[in-house]
Amino acid sequence: MNVAITGACGLLGAHVAAALSARHRVVGFDRHSWWGSRPIELHEGDLADPHARRAFLAEAKPDLLVHCAALANVDECEKRPGDAYFVNGTLSGLIAREVPRECRVVYVTTDGIFRGDTPMRSETDVPCPRTVYGRSKLHGEWETQLATGNHVIVRTNFYGWSAGNKVTSGEWLYRALETGESITLFDDFWFTPIYVVDLVERLLALAAGAQTGTFHVVGGERVSKHEFGVRLAAAAGLSTRHVNRGSIAAAALLAPRPRDMSLSSAKADALLGRPAPACASGLSRFIADRGRPLEERFEAVSASID
Ligand SMILES: NC(=O)c1ccc[n+]([C@@H]2O[C@H](COP(=O)([O-])OP(=O)(O)OC[C@H]3O[C@@H](n4cnc5c(N)ncnc54)[C@H](OP(=O)(O)O)[C@@H]3O)[C@@H](O)[C@H]2O)c1
Repeated sequence: MNVAITGACGLLGAHVAAALSARHRVVGFDRHSWWGSRPIELHEGDLADPHARRAFLAEAKPDLLVHCAALANVDECEKRPGDAYFVNGTLSGLIAREVPRECRVVYVTTDGIFRGDTPMRSETDVPCPRTVYGRSKLHGEWETQLATGNHVIVRTNFYGWSAGNKVTSGEWLYRALETGESITLFDDFWFTPIYVVDLVERLLALAAGAQTGTFHVVGGERVSKHEFGVRLAAAAGLSTRHVNRGSIAAAALLAPRPRDMSLSSAKADALLGRPAPACASGLSRFIADRGRPLEERFEAVSASID
């Protein structure tokens, strides 16, 4: 199978590439360099450049496209709404139209498409995003649906280890706990985080299945940011002495933040025939994968991915 991955050197894209590259031809596109140990074919450039984008897709001839590239910084999207709507929305539609007709398109999107005032939202709930990021990603969902019926839209919220050039929230939290830095974690902000390796395993199983549509692929437990930090510390044997409770209501953030981003993954769980991973199981995998080469993180799960 030929697989095209946009944002192939980002947190999610690199894990998707590493999961598939042992058995499939993987062609990636990013403006950063590849950081796995097993090489992939990589096109470097800006997806907004039509020549570079079309050359990538023409060479890849994808049977599966996993579109991970995005303007994903919530505050940056507030400052640059035109760029956010173009990259996350319009460009996603262009890419989905430029792949071969029979190509399956996976569009990765966010829990931020909901208003964030009700727990455990399902796929039948009506979106109502409060941020430019959320609105631009919803725009991307619609563009993908309009471009092709052969789509799998995955709404998620994940954590993991990256190449290190951009510190992920999971990495920031782990390092703060490890060094004993004083940090404040919100106890009135809820989400359903999933470890990126678990996400990739489930996302690829959905992509390989017959069903098209929109799926919530998240962790099996709704936790506050504070609770997540406490559970990570417990799993890693680290102290929470320097972890303070805070309130998102009191934080000075540029974009309005929803309070409850939690999603129900019941639809995907039923289709996959297994429940979403519990918080503790994702965290123990996250801790075990620290410093482990990217490809080796998939050794235990590669059989279920193909
Ligand atoms: N992280 C989360 O918890 C989360 C939650 C919900 C949804 N998502 C979605 O999941 C997807 C992957 O997220 P991620 O955390 O893996 O993001 P990431 O680490 O920032 O990876 C995205 C990669 O795509 C690149 N990219 C962006 N625009 C590009 C362009 N125009 N041309 C070429 N490369 C481009 C980025 O480069 P630059 O960094 O230089 O832009 C980055 O290397 C995104 O669609 C995001 O919206 C993420």
